[in-house]
Amino acid sequence: MARRRQLYEGKAKILFEGPEPGTLVQYFKDDATAFNAQKKGVITGKGVLNNRISEFIMTRLAEIGVPTHFVRRLNMREQLIREVEIIPLEVVVRNVAAGSLSTRLGIPEGTPLPRSIVEYYYKNDQLGDPMVAEEHITAFGWASVQDLDDIMALSLRVNDFLTGLFLGVGIRLVDFKLEFGRLWENDEMRIVLADEISPDSCRLWDIKTNEKLDKDRFRRDLGKVEEAYQEVARRLGILPEAGMRDLKGPETMQ
Ligand SMILES: Nc1ncnc2c1ncn2[C@@H]1O[C@H](COP(=O)(O)OP(=O)(O)OP(=O)(O)O)[C@@H](O)[C@H]1O
Ligand SMILES: [Mg+2]
Repeated sequence: MARRRQLYEGKAKILFEGPEPGTLVQYFKDDATAFNAQKKGVITGKGVLNNRISEFIMTRLAEIGVPTHFVRRLNMREQLIREVEIIPLEVVVRNVAAGSLSTRLGIPEGTPLPRSIVEYYYKNDQLGDPMVAEEHITAFGWASVQDLDDIMALSLRVNDFLTGLFLGVGIRLVDFKLEFGRLWENDEMRIVLADEISPDSCRLWDIKTNEKLDKDRFRRDLGKVEEAYQEVARRLGILPEAGMRDLKGPETMQ
């Protein structure tokens, strides 16, 4: 295959130029980072699983009318996506107290929240992705009031849908992070869901045992990290065709 032009290498994914204008290829790596990249490691097979899991979730969301950047999966580690102008925000939706919410506000991890809470973080690694208010977002022009309305409405729809989807397979959706982008079509702009939705970007707890099935196993050195990602894929019914054997997938793609 012709060597494609690499546009960006992030911590978990690489973006390549896509086959047509306005498209990109998103390649999922096994690399894992936490705490703003202070902790680094590899989760074998993660890229293959996250490619699959994100495909599955974005496809289900598209079916209920949530616009996403996802076009189609290309192979074990790559998917074709629409290129968007990423809004520099990480949108976090929380249903149960965990992580930074518990640390900052002293609410014990696992406490159900009285209602879902949406938080915004400014995507800026140098600043450590600081939490921001709508006031900062609109004042500094990262998104308009209308953009934020759309982002909030989409985030809550995604939350309702994913909460039910995961509940159906015995998993509690504790919290998750979304990224959105602007997509132009004939001079009209739409906000669409971008990036990925996977155990890298969600907290997923077994409904019965509260066992963590997400990146917290890596962050907190809980062990059985690969197994947790596999378990999520297994429960969603989407382990790769070749089964566990083939989780590493092809190493090269350029
Ligand atoms: N449809 C899209 N069009 C353009 N960029 C996208 C799209 N979807 C995701 N991205 C961006 O591609 C990158 C994916 O790489 P990765 O997640 O590894 O980055 P990262 O190391 O987390 O860095 P960042 O802080 O930029 O998210 C991210 O910067 C993400 O915002
Ligand atoms: Mg990222």
